[in-house]
Amino acid sequence: MTQTRRDILRMGATLGLGTMIPGTIRAATPTPMPLTASVADVQLAPPDYPKTRIWGYDGQMPGTLIRVKQGDRIMRRFVNDLPQASSVHWHGLRIDNAMDGVAGLTQDAVPPGGTFDYDFTAHDAGTYWYHAHNRSMEQVARGLYGALIVEEAEPVDVDREELLILDDWLLNPETAQLDPEFEAPHDRSHAGRRGNYIATNGTAETELPVKPNERLRLRLINAANARIFQLALSGFEGWVMAYDGMPLDVPEKVEGNFLLAPGQRVDLFVDVTAAAGEVAHLVRIDDEEGYSQAAFPVGPAGDSSKLRETPEPLPPNPNMSVPGVDAARRFDLRMEGGAMGNLQKATLGGEEMSFRELAAANQFWSFNGVVGMTDTPLAQLSSGETARVSIRNDTVFPHAMHLHGMHFREVLNSGELGPLRDTLLVFGDETREIAFVAGEPGKWIFHCHMLAHTASGMATWVDVT
Ligand code: C2O
Ligand code: CU
Repeated sequence: MTQTRRDILRMGATLGLGTMIPGTIRAATPTPMPLTASVADVQLAPPDYPKTRIWGYDGQMPGTLIRVKQGDRIMRRFVNDLPQASSVHWHGLRIDNAMDGVAGLTQDAVPPGGTFDYDFTAHDAGTYWYHAHNRSMEQVARGLYGALIVEEAEPVDVDREELLILDDWLLNPETAQLDPEFEAPHDRSHAGRRGNYIATNGTAETELPVKPNERLRLRLINAANARIFQLALSGFEGWVMAYDGMPLDVPEKVEGNFLLAPGQRVDLFVDVTAAAGEVAHLVRIDDEEGYSQAAFPVGPAGDSSKLRETPEPLPPNPNMSVPGVDAARRFDLRMEGGAMGNLQKATLGGEEMSFRELAAANQFWSFNGVVGMTDTPLAQLSSGETARVSIRNDTVFPHAMHLHGMHFREVLNSGELGPLRDTLLVFGDETREIAFVAGEPGKWIFHCHMLAHTASGMATWVDVT
């Protein structure tokens, strides 16, 4: 219905124009869009299998894609339609601590039937994701995650882009239902919950048609609970443009295999070198065998008759330098425990316990001799200060250490600084050091993103004031 001048006049009349006009008219408070976590049935396994009951955002797997421009405000009313309390964490974003979504640390878990309004600004362009941060080991495994893409202010020079969210699901081979044992001591004490059905964007049959010589941006997100994806390109020439959302100063040519640990992202530019009629692949390597993680059938020639030049770097995000690393205060984080480790005893809830007692409590890992979150932070920092944390892995398992709210750079053996990251994979018997600038004030959790490990001891926090 079009509004006529007369309607407007009439509306004016009902407002009582001419009687009293307030001096200021308050802008209406924008209503946040809902982001509803609920139980849903989705076709996860191949079509001849039954649907799988998952927990998802807006009934989808992966959850609703949130896509904004750099600098945009994101407002979402989290609505909890689950049978369990939950919260939403915006992984990789520099954000107000109150919006970080860590149940028990930055907010209370939202009970079933409850809501919570998230409201923050996306300062940094890049590939991020959001996921449940209460009982994450169960809730993320059930499907509570989605991608959050922040577009660069200026369009990027690619023909198009594809989002690839990698996950593995632990499904009953007959019923295609999720294995309901989320507390399994074996998973917690070993490499975590690993699935038997490996998918991209919620299906094992991802096919994305491409054209010869096309340049694509691939945004890869590892949403798995514990699986470290070993990947390679076939039929593509590719460059790493960004890790964990943050652009590299110089794009890195992809040669051979690369790893994507839980929680990590990588942005690739890939040029289709396979010819029309062939199929390019994102290859997953498992036990030295290659599998197609996503297939890209090459159609007839499009507009591009030749490959492009090496790509220019993506524009850097603001204020990302890590100055004064040499003079920075240093902290140590020693990881111990797990199966085949040599943890004798550690403190749980203020009490010293033997490894056997810890195992009886389904706890297996310690940071600096302490199991799980306590009132004492790993580091007490002032905003703006640079800090270094040396991470010593005295276990036989790899751990994907994720710091909330801040990106860090690795202090390499050469003394140089590595790329910005928010999640670092540290293998058994390795010591790696990170440096970062303490950002927004608040309590920032620092934990292993193998979610069974987080649940059984591998979490601490950094206090910024
Ligand atoms: Cu992506 Cu604390 O997590
Ligand atoms: Cu771990």
